[in-house]
Amino acid sequence: MKTRVLVVCLGNICRSPLAHGIFENLLPSNDFTVDSAGTGGYHIGSAPDPRSIAVAKKYGLDISQQKARKFHSEDFDLFDHIFVMDPSNYQNVVKLCQNKENLSKVRLLTQAAGLDVDEVPDPYYDDDGFELVYQLVYQSCLQIVAKLID
Ligand code: 4NP
Repeated sequence: MKTRVLVVCLGNICRSPLAHGIFENLLPSNDFTVDSAGTGGYHIGSAPDPRSIAVAKKYGLDISQQKARKFHSEDFDLFDHIFVMDPSNYQNVVKLCQNKENLSKVRLLTQAAGLDVDEVPDPYYDDDGFELVYQLVYQSCLQIVAKLID
């Protein structure tokens, strides 16, 4: 059975679509499935933010076909690893946990990667933040992929 990876942020239009595209590009599709979701429902059905699409394109990834969806409690059963972008996302996801197994699946992306960084900052109100977000997400995904395919 494939290992199922979910990445979660608030809107599912800026940060998690980048992680979704990067993981999909780095993980072998025979062994892994990747999805993303947001803890908020404001952007359900929307494509990623144009600024995320642009920075992904700059690094050779097309994320333009993704569609935002909301995180729901069934995701604890549908995924093996749930990587969240910041402590607020963490709280929002953890409060939907129903047992210890659910809780054990949820980790901050940067910490699961072993980086000494507390969060991937929300870039929604910061046009200049997308490059940093891409770099942080990319470095995190690289480290996590190395651990997952070990
Ligand atoms: P994301 O960024 O969580 O990285 O997708 C945001 C997108 C939208 C909003 C906040 C953060 N918003 O408030 O609409």
